[in-house]
Amino acid sequence: MCGIVGYIGPREAYPIIIEGLKRLEYRGYDSAGIALFDGTDLKVSKTKGKVVDLENRSEKEITKNGNVGIGHTRWATHGVPNDVNSHPHVSNSGELVIIHNGIIENYDSLKQELISRGYTFQSDTDTEVLINLIEDVKKQQNVKLGKAVQIALNQVIGAYAIAVFDKNKPEEVVVARLGSPLAIGIGENEDEFFIASDASPFLEYTKNAVYLEDEEMAVIRFHKGIKIRKIKDDSLVDTYVQKLQINLEQIEKGGFDHFMLKEIHEQPKAITDTYRGRLLRNEAIIKMAGVEDNMKKFLNANRIIIVACGTSWHAGLVAEYIFEDLARIPVEVEYASEFRYRNPVINENDVVIAISQSGETADTLAAIKLAKSKGAFVFGVCNVVGSSIARESDAGAYTHAGPEIGVASTKAFTTQITVLTLIALRLARAKGTISSSDFRQHLLELEMIPKKVEKALKSDANIKTIANVYKGVSNFLYLGRGYNFPVALEGALKLKEISYIHAEGYPAAEMKHGPIALIDENMPIVVIATKKGHYEKVVSNIQEIKSRKGKIIGIVTEGDTQVRALADHVIEVPETLESLSPLLTTIPLQLLSYHIAVMLDKNVDQPRNLAKSVTVE
Ligand code: F6R
Repeated sequence: MCGIVGYIGPREAYPIIIEGLKRLEYRGYDSAGIALFDGTDLKVSKTKGKVVDLENRSEKEITKNGNVGIGHTRWATHGVPNDVNSHPHVSNSGELVIIHNGIIENYDSLKQELISRGYTFQSDTDTEVLINLIEDVKKQQNVKLGKAVQIALNQVIGAYAIAVFDKNKPEEVVVARLGSPLAIGIGENEDEFFIASDASPFLEYTKNAVYLEDEEMAVIRFHKGIKIRKIKDDSLVDTYVQKLQINLEQIEKGGFDHFMLKEIHEQPKAITDTYRGRLLRNEAIIKMAGVEDNMKKFLNANRIIIVACGTSWHAGLVAEYIFEDLARIPVEVEYASEFRYRNPVINENDVVIAISQSGETADTLAAIKLAKSKGAFVFGVCNVVGSSIARESDAGAYTHAGPEIGVASTKAFTTQITVLTLIALRLARAKGTISSSDFRQHLLELEMIPKKVEKALKSDANIKTIANVYKGVSNFLYLGRGYNFPVALEGALKLKEISYIHAEGYPAAEMKHGPIALIDENMPIVVIATKKGHYEKVVSNIQEIKSRKGKIIGIVTEGDTQVRALADHVIEVPETLESLSPLLTTIPLQLLSYHIAVMLDKNVDQPRNLAKSVTVE
């Protein structure tokens, strides 16, 4: 949901900001803009389109010199994507300039107030209101920029990560955050500062970063450093500098055509990284500090409520099967966006597990805040270290998948399932709901999953052929049962989000209660029909499809003959335990959607209308 970048220091700001915006394009990519102070004046260039369009445009529009600047890549909220609505936005006097990620909810009343005082507006955005509010406060109250930002933000309802500067005092940039992430990179010599939605824009310059907390702002001064304050009460906050652990290679494509393909192929390593140090097969134990330290809470819980969105919600659905099956703990899986607004019955005997790759999803964050306010214990399963959900949770476990940049989630899904499986197994052991031989077998099988994922990835050529056959259809159906029902949902989501083909995921047995009406000779149906788990029932569903001439793509266990005899195509995955099968069956579905999208010439890594990190509700 919008990426922001800024620089203040001895280098030329322009290339740092442009390259930084390219790395943040996963957050939004419908328009882009940059503002630079070129030594004498403020220069702004912005355009509908991608960062490359901005590069082309700024080439003609502005001189690219200057050591201070801010840039933005947008995912539209208020106002359609066009040149005028693009950020940065300049105040009426032409002196102040801002970039903003988030939403100012009370922008309309603030705007009317400003209009009544003579302010005019060019764009439809909430951001232009904010910069004029800051200007108004600065002028009316005769205060410095930092103070004006603080006073203005105290009048604002909503979410933001902002960076603002004044062309009359370009040696200072003011930043603030509430609900949207904001990192400040501090140059190795402490004489330059980088501002960004995440650390990727400044990784090659510095590994020292400060992450602002919600309701904090910072004044960053060239040569003088950073001062962080609480927005509400002006109290000073200690500057805590973190050493970043990620490196540049992790955020590059590494020879793959797309980040999504790279991330699909990274899954064997990502899953290994997820269980490394936690799954100790020789000792037959699972060690997870966050679970161990809170074992009583888990064991005494009336139920576990899982809150998440999108793909993470699908991982939660898989976890429901695992927790109930292995640990015999009742589980409810909730869309965070519904949970937060429906006055849920929840109390201190509930454990809430929040699942989020980015750790920044606004609805999930709000759901856990609500759960905490009712006394529930909140456990976060996040990928991004130090993210808002990770920090807001009482305890948690990281997935350690490494940066996921493709907008369509792949390795996040399988590593979330891996973490949740580890937790379920640990609880099952503690509760005595799993025998020691079953427990050992699960550990052994889980340890073998990365090798099996590697094998599943080898079906790529077969999947490509199938993709070529069906790339022209308008609808797809995905069916699965039990553990593989959520995988069917995930397969359908992957296809629709990157190829724009309509796809539905359904529990296989539900097909006859409605979707069967859609089936004719033009309808491809992906059926997950692995040997373990309702196999015979799924085979019957396949027969029903065949009788209606639907085209069957079976995801089957290696060596399967029964489905092969019925299906138009089969894709094999290695055999494993039923509870672990989603880790394998999901792989061909990821590849199928990837190849179809590539064949349709879609932008796989940046599908239309989407953004990686959904920081607005
Ligand atoms: C789908 C996808 C989204 C995310 C959802 C939640 O491929 O990426 O559905 O899963 O927006 O995001 P996180 O996991 O970051 O909370």
